[in-house]
Amino acid sequence: MSETAANPVPTHVAVIMDGNGRWAKERHLPRLAGHNAGAKAVERTLKAAQKAGVKFLTLYAFSTENWSRPQDEISGLFKLLEQTLGRYTQDAAKHGVRLLVSGAREPLPPSVLDKIDHAVRSTSGNTGLTLNLALNYGARQEIVHAVNTLLREGKTEITMQDISQQLYQPQLPDPELIIRTSGEERLSNFLLWQAAYSEFYFTPVLWPDFDEAEFEKALWAYSRRKRRFGGV
Ligand code: FPP
Repeated sequence: MSETAANPVPTHVAVIMDGNGRWAKERHLPRLAGHNAGAKAVERTLKAAQKAGVKFLTLYAFSTENWSRPQDEISGLFKLLEQTLGRYTQDAAKHGVRLLVSGAREPLPPSVLDKIDHAVRSTSGNTGLTLNLALNYGARQEIVHAVNTLLREGKTEITMQDISQQLYQPQLPDPELIIRTSGEERLSNFLLWQAAYSEFYFTPVLWPDFDEAEFEKALWAYSRRKRRFGGV
């Protein structure tokens, strides 16, 4: 590439993985086949992010609104998640990946919570990329949860820093880049607080087709953005 990049590789990339259902429909397959293919795209993206030098990768795996999906799709998604987490916990040690999970614990099934807790515990000492899985996640709920924690602490007036410190993962920097696949261009209750100055990258590619080349395209687009943070 002849142009020189302006922004360095983002420290934190967040992804709204969308289009699994449409990918399956195009192939006359059940929606779960799309989610299975989506899980493979998760692994490809994780590798691409590590290779590019990204330190934090947040993936929107299940939103608080996803409970309205058919029961068999929900249970299939959680089964897939348990399988992936199990496999992943072993691999994570090998690649130095640390896992975090962001979202409300209620009403996640106990078997999923056990797997999550085990995966988070057993990777907590890893010092490579941090994979933050947004699971049963809603950004409005996250902000309300933060404010309620501050109220319980007896605060009567709060600062922006107070809220930042009570988010699910206060130690994570805000994402410089948020990617959404499948041609949809909205935030859907994802990282509302943290996205204040994020750059957005939308691609028509459906999530199961997302790969290293697509990830690099997003990083390249980001590198060309003029980030002014409200200044000139
Ligand atoms: C959006 O596609 C995707 C989801 C709601 C779930 C994301 C899940 C995965 C990528 C698979 C497993 C994940 C992990 C971390 C193992 P959609 O179903 O909304 O697609 P549509 O809009 O085309 O119907």
